[in-house]
Amino acid sequence: MNIKGSTNIVGLIGHPVEHSFSPPMHNAAFKQLNLDYAYVAFDVEPQNLKSAIEGAESLGIRGLNVTIPHKIDVMEYLDDIDEVAGLIGAVNTIDFKDMKGYNTDGIGAVRAIEEVTSIKDKNVVVAGAGGASRAISFYIAKYGAKSLTILNRNVEKAQKLAEDVLNSDLISDVKADSISEITSYLNHGDILINTTPVGMHPNINDKPIASAGNMHDDLVVFDAVYNPNETVLLKEAIKANAKPVYGIKMLLYQGAESFKIWTGREAPVDVMEEALRKTIDLK
Ligand SMILES: NC(=O)c1ccc[n+]([C@@H]2O[C@H](COP(=O)([O-])OP(=O)(O)OC[C@H]3O[C@@H](n4cnc5c(N)ncnc54)[C@H](OP(=O)(O)O)[C@@H]3O)[C@@H](O)[C@H]2O)c1
Repeated sequence: MNIKGSTNIVGLIGHPVEHSFSPPMHNAAFKQLNLDYAYVAFDVEPQNLKSAIEGAESLGIRGLNVTIPHKIDVMEYLDDIDEVAGLIGAVNTIDFKDMKGYNTDGIGAVRAIEEVTSIKDKNVVVAGAGGASRAISFYIAKYGAKSLTILNRNVEKAQKLAEDVLNSDLISDVKADSISEITSYLNHGDILINTTPVGMHPNINDKPIASAGNMHDDLVVFDAVYNPNETVLLKEAIKANAKPVYGIKMLLYQGAESFKIWTGREAPVDVMEEALRKTIDLK
């Protein structure tokens, strides 16, 4: 990387950030397209969030990704929020050109799934009702799913999210239930999305949220967990001859969307994916 006086700085704010996969992914993309940009990670403690945003603006930083714990609180320091990010209630990308916040996590998941199947008119089952589920659920609704069922251990949380998605008027059929009822929803489901950390490293031998015997071979199974690459749930999907979608693709495409917001260019996703895989393998 050749950093010069003219280099545009983009980056990540969060706490902690040192294990982030985003710097190698974005810097590989800038290098590939010969763009005069560099991506760095900034560890920002919660009490410093406001001054970090103001400082970034003063320093002429072009764009930031935002991760835990700042995705919600950062919204009050921005001038504008993208419509779906506003519905989600969280921002993971800032464009300092117009101080506008976006949420590319959900788009990332949708692009990953749409490599395998269209979401339009599909019955989608989402397990989990936390931050990732919120981002994904609104985008599933926006992309024209026929129905959305949100399943969670804490059913009240699933009900609250279902209500919020219904109130967005993006979709008319939204249900909530306990995750223990998952098998009864899979018969009529076209797409299953796991947003719980079940199966995530180091708990790679967790009992999966659904097993092969409960999956039909037309089911598309997306696991947001990306470490390990092939989770216990995806192993079950493969056993059932269903179609697996890997969590790394969501990571990749959320990055690709942020890249496009900052540079106005289509991201070189092949190069970004290679950089991501190399970095994850090193862990
Ligand atoms: N691929 C990507 O780019 C990407 C992006 C974001 C997140 N993720 C992954 O998505 C997962 C969730 O992240 P998040 O930010 O949404 O977390 P979160 O806000 O903490 O939500 C976690 C959700 O999982 C449920 N859950 C936790 N442990 C469970 C268990 N043992 N059995 C059943 N349900 C369980 C929780 O249920 P309760 O409400 O009942 O506690 C909650 O609904 C993480 O593994 C994360 O790595 C991946």
